[in-house]
Formats: sequence, structure tokens, C-alpha cells
Amino acid sequence: MKKEQLYEGKAKKVFATDRANECIVSYKDDATAFNGLKKGTIRGKGEINNRMTNYLMQHLEKEAGIPTHLISELSPTDTLVKRVKIVPLEVIVRNVIAGSLSKRLGAPEGTELKCPVLEFCYKDDELGDPMVNDYHILAMGWTDEATLSKIKDYAFRTNEYLKKFFSEIGIDLIDFKLEFGITADGVLVLADEISPDTCRFWDSKTKEKLDKDRFRRDLGDVEGAYQEMIRRVFTHE
Ligand code: TMP
Ligand code: ASP
Repeated sequence: MKKEQLYEGKAKKVFATDRANECIVSYKDDATAFNGLKKGTIRGKGEINNRMTNYLMQHLEKEAGIPTHLISELSPTDTLVKRVKIVPLEVIVRNVIAGSLSKRLGAPEGTELKCPVLEFCYKDDELGDPMVNDYHILAMGWTDEATLSKIKDYAFRTNEYLKKFFSEIGIDLIDFKLEFGITADGVLVLADEISPDTCRFWDSKTKEKLDKDRFRRDLGDVEGAYQEMIRRVFTHE
């Protein structure tokens, strides 16, 4: 079923299948940060990110009406997905100030935002994924106005669903990054992953970081944080 490798990214590989419109995503334990400058391995990450992404996408489809690329989980690290053309944008939603926004605004991490903030970055490693706005996106033709408006709607709805989901397992959803793709039939779907690599998760009581910031900032016990997150996600009924 798994045919030639189509692509290898920093955290995943993508393989062709015998169906033109389907491919297999294979999650790796490799971790990078700062646009690949820092490299490492997080034992068990591939499996945790694969299972968490699929669990959340399944719930987002069923309970929030967000279409996703998910077809079926094939193994602990591999998933069959719809083949899509990725819209070259990182779609970031923030509920609390952290990371690059803290630096940009000079506000301490943990500062509440009065309403969610949406940001777009143009996906281009060589340029370091620069932040862009609606005008850049439309002027460069990375997507059209109708699709962009749908992306915003899906991003905010995903935030509302995930905020509630994680609060029920004692986690503050600080911020996260989504990617979208267009299927062969021209349908916009949520793609990529939703995992501790792509979200900031803080324990609601202790504010302990349970995400990739432990790797980025050398905070220790990275594996333990990923394991704690998958354990909590699977305790949510
Ligand atoms: P930032 O504060 O570094 O801009 O990150 C915002 C969110 O996006 C955070 O949850 C981590 C996630 N993210 C990625 O998934 N990939 C990336 O390459 C970067 C820079 C951030
Ligand atoms: N994954 C990104 C990279 O390697 C950045 C990050 O997640 O911090 O550059």
C-alpha cells in the first residue's frame, strides 16, 4: 500500500499509495526548532503526535463540523489522509500571549488577550516563515478571498472547540498553528497536525509547560510532557 516517498519534512514523511488522491503520513520522533537550527529526538513523539492529531481531527469533524484530511489511522505512527495541495500559510490562533508575540509586543508570557488573535505566516523556510496579512495573501495569490474567509472561520471554530476540550482535561490552550489544504475535488480541509509540536499547552493549575517549548527552551523532561498530554487527551470521553 505504501509506495514511493513524496516528501520528507522536519517531523513527518509523506508516501504515495495506490490511490492517486490518498497518501500516507508517517510521523517521526525527530524534532527541530528555530527553523531547523536546533535538532534532536523526542522518544515516542511520532506515535503521540499521530494519535493525538487523529483523535482531535475526528472530534473536530464530528462535533464542530470542520472538514479534515483524515481518512484512517493505519498504525501508531502512520495515517491515511486525503492528498491535498497545501495552502502555503501557517495559521496561528492565540488566546494568551506567549512565544514570538510576547517578544513582538513586549508583554510577559501568560498575559490574557481580550479576544483571540489570528496571525498568518507565509510558509517558506528560506525566508523564515515571515508574518503576512490578508493583503499580502490575496496580492500574491496564495489563496482567494472566499477560501481565506473560510480558513478564518475554521480557525476560530477550531479554537473554540479545542479551548473547551483542553480545559476539560486541565489544560490551558495558549496558542496553536494550523495548516489547510485543498483536495482534488476542490474542498478546503484542515491538514497537517494538532499536537504538542504545534500547540502551546499549559497545565491550568500549575501553568507548567506541556509542549515543544520544553525542547525549544531546554526545560527538561520533554518526553514526560508529551506522554502526559496524550494520557490526558485519552481520558477525555
Ligand atoms: P510562536 O509564538 O513561536 O510564533 O508560535 C506560535 C504557535 O505556533 C505555537 O503554538 C507553536 C506553533 N508553531 C509551529 O507549529 N511551527 C512553527 O514553526 C512555529 C514557529 C510555531
Ligand atoms: N518546527 C519549526 C522548525 O524547526 C519551529 C518550531 O516548532 O519551533 O523550525
